[in-house]
Amino acid sequence: MSWVRLAKTGDLEPGGKGCITSVHNQEIALFRTADGYHAVQNSCPHRGAPLGQGHLDGQDVLCPWHGWTFNVKTGQCVTTPGMDLKTYPVRVEGENVMVDVPEVL
Ligand code: FES
Repeated sequence: MSWVRLAKTGDLEPGGKGCITSVHNQEIALFRTADGYHAVQNSCPHRGAPLGQGHLDGQDVLCPWHGWTFNVKTGQCVTTPGMDLKTYPVRVEGENVMVDVPEVL
């Protein structure tokens, strides 16, 4: 387990813009939906667009380049089966949003 603080709870509005942070050489996109915070890989599996800059619609984020859609809670790619995102466990400690990002050797 390697829990890292990615944001403060007030940094993200529910349904609003995500944020992108690099942890252990991995770019993570963090979103806040109506039911909490969700962390996924930032790089779109299609051509590498920054998903943290995508539009959030409910539980889904739309890739800003070509519109593939991903569920930020499960990582499932809604438009292209099998092209799912890596997801990361998230927990809130006080006003800190913590994400478990394993170190990649
Ligand atoms: S780079 Fe995301 S859909 Fe093309």
